Amino acid sequence: MPSSSNVKGTVAILGGTGDIGLRISRIFLTEYREHFPVVRVTTRDPNSPKAQELAKLGAELRRTSESFDDVLSGVDVVINAFNTETIEKVGKELTAAVARVNPKVYFLSEFGVDYRFNEFDGYEHPEWPRKRVITADTKAALEGSQTKLVLLVTGIFLNWLFQPGLGIDVEKNVYTSLGPASNRIATTAGDDIGRSVARLAVLSLDPATASTVPTDLRIAGQNVSYEEIRDAVARVKGVPKGEIRSKSLEEFNSNLKAHPTGNVLDYIWVLIGQGKLDFSRENANELVNPGQSLWKWKTVEDQLRGSI
Ligand SMILES: NC(=O)c1ccc[n+]([C@@H]2O[C@H](COP(=O)([O-])OP(=O)(O)OC[C@H]3O[C@@H](n4cnc5c(N)ncnc54)[C@H](OP(=O)(O)O)[C@@H]3O)[C@@H](O)[C@H]2O)c1
Repeated sequence: MPSSSNVKGTVAILGGTGDIGLRISRIFLTEYREHFPVVRVTTRDPNSPKAQELAKLGAELRRTSESFDDVLSGVDVVINAFNTETIEKVGKELTAAVARVNPKVYFLSEFGVDYRFNEFDGYEHPEWPRKRVITADTKAALEGSQTKLVLLVTGIFLNWLFQPGLGIDVEKNVYTSLGPASNRIATTAGDDIGRSVARLAVLSLDPATASTVPTDLRIAGQNVSYEEIRDAVARVKGVPKGEIRSKSLEEFNSNLKAHPTGNVLDYIWVLIGQGKLDFSRENANELVNPGQSLWKWKTVEDQLRGSI
C-alpha cells in the first residue's frame, strides 16, 4: 500500500512515454492506481510500443497535438515530463491551459541538478538558463491561482550515472573526481522518482497534508561518493578495488570557463566537485518516504546488480 490517505484524483502526465515520463507513468498506473483511477498520458504517437505498453496498463492516451484545455480538463494533478526543447515549443499554450484548468498541483519538468546554486558566471550551460525562463514564465502565469507549483530536483538518474564523462568508468574500473573522491553525488532511480512524484501528488491532494509540500524540494535515493561507487563495483563484480584519480577542480573549471564545451557532463562534473550535488544535508526524503516505510530507495549497488 503506497499510502494510508484515501484521496483520489485524475492525473495528466505530459511526455509520459519519455525517459523519466515512462517511469512516472508506470508507477501511477500500478502502485498508485488506487489514488489515480484516471491517468492521462500525452504522446505524438499512440501506436508506439511505449504508448501501447501504458495503454495496456490502463492509461488514457491523448495526442500532444490536441488542445491542452481538453487534455487537462478535470485534472487534479499535472506532471510535466517534457524535455526543455518541447516545453519551449508548447510552453505558452500549456501554461495558459494549466492556469485556466487550475489543477491542485503542477509539477514542472525538473528532475535534475539544483541549478539555483550554480556559479558559472558568463559560461553556464544553456540548459539551465532555459529552465529558469520556463520556471519564471510559469510562476508569472500561475500568479494568484490556486495551483501549487512543485519543482522537484532529483540529482542524476541512477541509470545515467556511470559515465566516463563524470569520471565514472566502470568498464575500466577507474574513478576520477574533480577535487576529493569523497565528494558525494545525489542520484535517484527512475522508479523512485515516479514514487516520489506520486507520493507528493497524494500529499498535495489531501487537505490534511497539502501545506507540507513545498514548491522547491530535492530528493536523493542515495548520495554516493566516487570511493563508494568504486567499492560497490568491486563487491558486485568481484573485481579488485579500482583506481581512484583526482584532478584539480580549479584547473578544470578555469579551462571550462575559457573554452566552454557545451557538454553538460563537464558542467555537472564541476558541480559534483564543488559539492553542489551532495543533497545529504538538505532533502525531502523523509517527507516523501518516511523512514523508507513506503519503499526502499534504490542504490548504485542495485543498479550494478541489474536489479532495477
Ligand atoms: N537528472 C538526470 O540525470 C536527467 C537526465 C535526462 C533528463 N533529465 C530531465 O528530465 C526531464 C524530462 O527529460 P526526458 O529526457 O525524460 O524527456 P524526453 O524523453 O526527451 O521527452 C519526453 C517525451 O516528450 C515527447 N517529445 C519529445 N520531443 C517532442 C517534440 N518535439 N514535440 C512533442 N513531444 C515531444 C516524447 O513523447 P512521444 O514520442 O511519445 O510524443 C518523449 O517521450 C527534463 O527536465 C530533463 O532535463 C534529467
